[in-house]
Amino acid sequence: MKLCVALDMASKEANLALARELVGLDVWLKVGLRAYLRDGAKFIEELKGVADFRVFLDLKLYDIPNTMADAAEVIAKVGADMINLHASSGARAMRTVMSRLNALPSRPLVLAVSALTSFDESEFSAVYNENLAAAVRKFSVMSYEAGLDGMVCSVLESRLIKNATSADFLTLTPGVRPFGESANDQKRVADLNAAKKQGSDFIVVGRPIYESIEPREICERILEKI
Ligand code: C5P
Repeated sequence: MKLCVALDMASKEANLALARELVGLDVWLKVGLRAYLRDGAKFIEELKGVADFRVFLDLKLYDIPNTMADAAEVIAKVGADMINLHASSGARAMRTVMSRLNALPSRPLVLAVSALTSFDESEFSAVYNENLAAAVRKFSVMSYEAGLDGMVCSVLESRLIKNATSADFLTLTPGVRPFGESANDQKRVADLNAAKKQGSDFIVVGRPIYESIEPREICERILEKI
């Protein structure tokens, strides 16, 4: 299991300072929409300049197939090691993205978002008119068959996804509160023990790390435990 630290702080300087504090630890860094829109591709380069970090660019693409493939190709070339898109963009969009990326000399890992971890059951069915677990299973099989590498999902769905696809199909789980910290706006949260038990390949942790006074120490405690 790998720890992926969300760089969701309010400024580029704060995100870079956090990255510098984590030098030498075996962590991935997650760059989200705000940081990417504000700081651009250059920020990925700068992070890679701080140390040999692996970067997950969390832009959650959702558009028509050709536009998604165009965007995926650009972000692959920016140097991200992992990217993602919404499974609800559909099988054809996912296949189009994968065939475009597979034509490159090397490509990032590609994950599909099943259901946002901020959704509870009723919020999810208000949008998708479907039961959450059934929809997650359907999206996972679709993504697996389209040739993606794994899913973004809650810890609570990690095992279900592997059972429906393959043990090698990756799961990346946000909404992890390692030692039972506050859930904030997340609805489907779980702690480290649950993430381990459910077979998460990557856990994403944001606020419990960057809002703490000793972010490096929290990361070290998490890494010890995983
Ligand atoms: O602060 P916290 O640990 O809740 O941060 C979780 C991070 O993971 C945020 O950057 C959020 O955008 C992202 N994420 C999520 N749920 C998903 C996909 C990504 O919380 N399904």
